[in-house]
Amino acid sequence: MGQNEKTILITGGAGYVGSALVQQLLQRGYQVRVIDTLLHGGNALLPFLYNSRFELVVGDIRLDTDLDTTVRGIYGIVHLAAIVGEPACNHDPELAVAVNTIGSELLCRKAVSQGVKRFVFASTCSNYGTMSTDDTYLDETSPLKPISVYSETKVGFERYLLGLNRDGFYPTCLRFATAFGLSLRPRFDLTVNEFAKELALGRKLEVFGEQFWRPYCHVRDLANACVLTLEADDDDISHQAFNVGSNSENYRKKQLVELILKQLPQMADNVTYVERNDDPRNYRVSFDKINSTLGFTAKRKVADGIEEIIKALKLGLIKNPDDRSYRNL
Ligand SMILES: NC(=O)c1ccc[n+]([C@@H]2O[C@H](COP(=O)([O-])OP(=O)(O)OC[C@H]3O[C@@H](n4cnc5c(N)ncnc54)[C@H](O)[C@@H]3O)[C@@H](O)[C@H]2O)c1
Repeated sequence: MGQNEKTILITGGAGYVGSALVQQLLQRGYQVRVIDTLLHGGNALLPFLYNSRFELVVGDIRLDTDLDTTVRGIYGIVHLAAIVGEPACNHDPELAVAVNTIGSELLCRKAVSQGVKRFVFASTCSNYGTMSTDDTYLDETSPLKPISVYSETKVGFERYLLGLNRDGFYPTCLRFATAFGLSLRPRFDLTVNEFAKELALGRKLEVFGEQFWRPYCHVRDLANACVLTLEADDDDISHQAFNVGSNSENYRKKQLVELILKQLPQMADNVTYVERNDDPRNYRVSFDKINSTLGFTAKRKVADGIEEIIKALKLGLIKNPDDRSYRNL
């Protein structure tokens, strides 16, 4: 089958990462089907509505009836639908388990029973919890130490998925770094975007635990990693986990602020640092495996994402960036 005859199902395609992925897959000639409950609205999908290779199912991955027809005729699924982030999962842990665990397992069983070949799951680097010493880089062999409902659901489903051995079924877990930058569904509740927004709007910024490390990756690069995974050889991706990001884009929070202040030097006095000595999410991550196996390199750095956010806000393209629709809680 030629690439442009393949149909890819994106769950959560109306979201921050999903809308970027829809765009890239359509550009590469795929047929794209999205299933999404439109929890944060559906504006991000407006640009695709009139594309004959795009199809939207407003539906819920928790519902057998919604999945039955949606999963039919699909080559690969990129599973992004979730209750995303610690605050949203802590707010409603039952819903988080219902979607991230039970719904994901239902989707997976449907995929296997309907002969879907590829299943790419959006997991997270926060599964690692924390590094043991400050000079460690965590890699895919490092122990997973989930410390929240969010990461517990992600680790649990990774184990379920990678434990499934069926002929012709090739599952992959992509552990995304924390995303930044713009997509058709902007999010301003993620560290880089939130810090850049506050300072671009001339506000005060309080930074808690400025010394702690985290890896970051541009949202459109995360989408590109999903495309590369779908297009890789079966043997390279089957039953594998890959961290997605770049070694150079691990930063302490203080370094993020410094990158923003390079572009907004007049805001230096607006930043205060609040001491915090324990953060269970202090981790630096190695991205060597996805680079050497799939040839993935992120095209954009944190500084590029900061520039995008500042530009969009200064131009007034996003009228009310504090609106609820740009946050997951
Ligand atoms: N953004 C990040 O920094 C980041 C980092 C690591 C991992 N991830 C993972 O990547 C994926 C996408 O994240 P995002 O930032 O695009 O989140 P998002 O909240 O923007 O998108 C999630 C989408 O899933 C949909 N959805 C929720 N419940 C659903 C259900 N029951 N049925 C169908 N659709 C449903 C929502 O309506 C939304 O459009 C998530 O699985 C997330 O855990 C994201």
